[in-house]
Amino acid sequence: MGPLLITAFLVSCKPEDAEPGPRSFGEGFLWGTAIAGFQVDPGCPTIDPAECEDRHSDWFQWVTDPDLIADSNTYLSGDPLADGPGHYELYVEDFRRAREELGTGALRTSIEWSRLFPDGVAESATTVEELAAHADPVAVAHYHAYFDAIASAGLVPLVTLNHYTLPLWLHDGKSCHFDMGTCTDRGWLDLPRMKAALSLYAGFCAREFGDRVDLWGTLNEPLAVVLAGYLLPSADRTNPPGIVEPDLAVQVMFNEIEGHAVMVDAVHAYDAVDADGDGLPSRVGLVANLAATAPLDPENELDVQGAAHLDYVYNRVFLNGAVLGEFDRNLDGVAEEHRDDIAGRMDFVGVNYYTRITARGLSRPLFSAYPWFDFYPEILWEPYAPGMADVVGIVEEYGLPSIICENGTTPDDTAGETFLRPHLESLRDGMDAGSRVEGYFWWSLVDNYEWNHGMGMRFGLYELDIATKARTLRPIGGTYAEIVGANAI
Ligand code: FCB
Repeated sequence: MGPLLITAFLVSCKPEDAEPGPRSFGEGFLWGTAIAGFQVDPGCPTIDPAECEDRHSDWFQWVTDPDLIADSNTYLSGDPLADGPGHYELYVEDFRRAREELGTGALRTSIEWSRLFPDGVAESATTVEELAAHADPVAVAHYHAYFDAIASAGLVPLVTLNHYTLPLWLHDGKSCHFDMGTCTDRGWLDLPRMKAALSLYAGFCAREFGDRVDLWGTLNEPLAVVLAGYLLPSADRTNPPGIVEPDLAVQVMFNEIEGHAVMVDAVHAYDAVDADGDGLPSRVGLVANLAATAPLDPENELDVQGAAHLDYVYNRVFLNGAVLGEFDRNLDGVAEEHRDDIAGRMDFVGVNYYTRITARGLSRPLFSAYPWFDFYPEILWEPYAPGMADVVGIVEEYGLPSIICENGTTPDDTAGETFLRPHLESLRDGMDAGSRVEGYFWWSLVDNYEWNHGMGMRFGLYELDIATKARTLRPIGGTYAEIVGANAI
């Protein structure tokens, strides 16, 4: 080969021209799907609905109460819970699908607090040991069988202790919706009650199920509870009590930080069993919904500032509190309180990533008591794959690893290529840039009861036939199985 040919050959081989090879996620990366008890349990083919549906939570009341359904401000579908997938009865088959058909090695699921402690007598307990005496034996046996089955299927469980739902004895969302002034069981607004109850409940779960579970999530999407419950209930999402009270919303946000912190401590104190033999008895994180953010007009200074403040209020205020113990209660960018009893306890941050939010900057705050609330979210719901790298980057700034606990869309036949792959490419980009990411869980395994939307919004890798409860793999499920099998994108 002459020198010219050699040069031509070398040029044609330069790395940027090479076909990109598969990008591995590395050894030990957790691939999974995510579900939550309230959404996936109901719809049992043979078990009595009264047991299957768990009728003692604020969410049961929220989606079934006729007065609430009739109220146009609640945006409730009115779909019967019996339309759900009946996972409470059909879980063994669901675990088999997850392990054998999808090839996933992990599953994120939740425990329903009101199943274990359906009535208010639980509140008289002052220790985890006393609380144990009030646990419903049917529910305790169910969860033991459930976690045994997860282990037999060969799945690593990541268990959320509180995926939105509260026992009715702590939160009467209906009374609070119609009259916050007179309702007595005010859920997240009753801080001392919530802290005491959450700490005992988390300790109980850690003690009872810790031999099967090493990965725990405290609260799911605390900000969604705030926004859809107390600030911006809308057709997109309403959570009980579904009211518009900015001061209460901020109060709930900080109460949730405190609630999360006592749960972390309780799990660390009571789960001393190393279920998977990795030398770590339990690791606990928060499951936060984080968003990519953008200014409406990148050339407009006010919009740029608005987007920065949106990023602060949406992504940072809660993490500053929960990870660092820094409380900025008036949302002005400066923490006025440091909490040693909260800082530095978390082991990872679970991230639910769905959307980019685009902000218009405002010359005055929307609510005058909160100076950095000076933006308006013009576009709230926009899938945006590159933002996946942004959100794991935010977590890394706090010095913690992340686990993607939810990412998903209503899947059409192209979603595997148009949504899933680009999001995973971006996740890998984030890892290349230095963010430690331990796993990825698709929302959701199977179509389920989507909160106020009922069965009207579907996210499953498996499509549910409401009448027969049959599950059919969607094309995106096949794509996910391929990626999981290769552990690479
Ligand atoms: C998230 C929730 C999850 C599910 C998905 C679609 O906000 O955590 O339960 O509803 O949205």
